[in-house]
Amino acid sequence: MGVFKDAGHLFRFTGLFVLAFLAFLLIRGYVVPKTFGQYGHYRAAAIGEIAGRPVKFAGHKACEDCHTDIVDVKMKGKHAHVNCEACHGALAKHADDPTSMTPTKPDTAVLCARCHTASAAKPTGFPQVNPADHSNGVPCETCHNPHSPAIDGGGAK
Ligand code: HEC
Ligand code: HEC
Ligand code: HEC
Ligand code: HEC
Repeated sequence: MGVFKDAGHLFRFTGLFVLAFLAFLLIRGYVVPKTFGQYGHYRAAAIGEIAGRPVKFAGHKACEDCHTDIVDVKMKGKHAHVNCEACHGALAKHADDPTSMTPTKPDTAVLCARCHTASAAKPTGFPQVNPADHSNGVPCETCHNPHSPAIDGGGAK
């Protein structure tokens, strides 16, 4: 008994530790979702939940099937690589059934400024303006065609 003569506090401490560990396992059993870890370090049921959400973006291919005139203009301009829904917003509902809703025309004072307002954080090569000085309150689409914005029209500058 010599070694354990004064070890009572160690046993009590170990007992507490074991209790705490059991409590941890119990709580963990309740709070970890059922399907966690089924495939990996995530909740497997989340896959179905996310896949079940309604699709909101149609993708530019869908728009191009119907609005060929706009595509022809856009393809030749500086906005060739800006997708329709980056400006018009998510329009899957309209693309599925155009009669179900007519998209509103974007407000260019807000839309164009979102990408083109000058900021030191933007790459220097990116075209940027100070909207107040540049247009003096005149709507951007008065001078720029949103689908081919370079002033010479063709987009080559
Ligand atoms: C199945 C054909 C079809 C598809 C796909 C389609 N559209 Fe349309 N779109 C139409 C028709 C038809 C109208 C005219 C509807 C009206 O005037 O009520 C229209 C109207 C619009 C308008 C409003 C035009 C105006 O004069 O105000 C915008 C903007 C538009 N579409 C953008 C898009 C975008 C962006 C997409 C891709 C996400 C898209 N459309 C996909 C057929 C389509
Ligand atoms: C850079 C932003 C931007 C992109 C990208 C863009 N649009 Fe537009 N679009 C606008 C704005 C702004 C208007 C409204 C112009 C106005 O008020 O006269 C508009 C108007 C329209 C209209 C109404 C008819 C017209 O010519 O004014 C249709 C239809 C349309 N867009 C479809 C599309 C489709 C389809 C695409 C992709 C191929 C597309 N847009 C890409 C900004 C954009
Ligand atoms: C989603 C971001 C986005 C929006 C919104 C947007 N643009 Fe652009 N814009 C771009 C990109 C990307 C380019 C191509 C830049 C490049 O070629 O390096 C561009 C190019 C341009 C250019 C060509 C500049 C040059 O080099 O000649 C003009 C002008 C322009 N945009 C005006 C507008 C106007 C006006 C609107 C609103 C109708 C608008 N943009 C909305 C992203 C945007
Ligand atoms: C009164 C006509 C007019 C209006 C309104 C106008 N612009 Fe311009 N914009 C021009 C002209 C002209 C140029 C080409 C000459 C230049 O580079 O300054 C230009 C050039 C640009 C460029 C390219 C700058 C560069 O560095 O290559 C961008 C981006 C632009 N405009 C965005 C806008 C935005 C955003 C609006 C709305 C807030 C707007 N413009 C309103 C006439 C206009």
